[in-house]
Amino acid sequence: MLSLIILKLAVVLHVFGAIGLVGGVAFNTLVMMRALKQIPPAQSAVVAEKVGQGLMWIGTISLAVLGLSGLVRLYFYGIFESGRTLAFWTSPYGWRLALMITAWLILVVTGALSAYWYRTVLTRKLPFAAGLRDLEERRAAQARISAIQDRLAYVNFALTIAAALGGALLRAGV
Ligand code: HEM
Repeated sequence: MLSLIILKLAVVLHVFGAIGLVGGVAFNTLVMMRALKQIPPAQSAVVAEKVGQGLMWIGTISLAVLGLSGLVRLYFYGIFESGRTLAFWTSPYGWRLALMITAWLILVVTGALSAYWYRTVLTRKLPFAAGLRDLEERRAAQARISAIQDRLAYVNFALTIAAALGGALLRAGV
């Protein structure tokens, strides 16, 4: 009985995790990034910092929930046993699951990278004694990282859609 409740809870949480991740990533890529390009750099930096923080939380929590609930489901579906053969992962069920897990793993890496850049470059405060040269260097680093983050956002969007598609195909049994 308890294990059934845990499994049902994992199924519900997995769906909510997917909603949070797809929603957060889609909002960032399709709405935020476009809107930021249409406002002046000074305002855009402030909005990006404030809204970006919230989106980062949604993404981190969703990824954690998806990973944990996914592992619980793998355990209850006996995939820790059946997944030991290559035949499992080359079957339609197996490769769709592999697509979901691989996309998740890459999203964890790109998410950690983005969070690191956010803290160390994008929102780094300079010491009081910083000179014009430090300011220039920070501005150049921020522009470089922002350009990489923009491209990374599209990669994250594609990965999220691929993972959700893998899950949807599994569910539909096609
Ligand atoms: C980017 C991350 C992920 C997304 C967007 C995602 C999305 C989905 C969706 C939409 C479903 C189908 C609906 C459902 O049954 O809940 C699903 C099912 C599932 N997911 Fe994920 N998932 C992700 C990551 C993971 C990870 C990391 C694991 C394993 C560690 C995992 C394991 C599973 C399992 C076992 C199922 C059930 C398949 C079945 O019905 O037989 N997922 N996922």
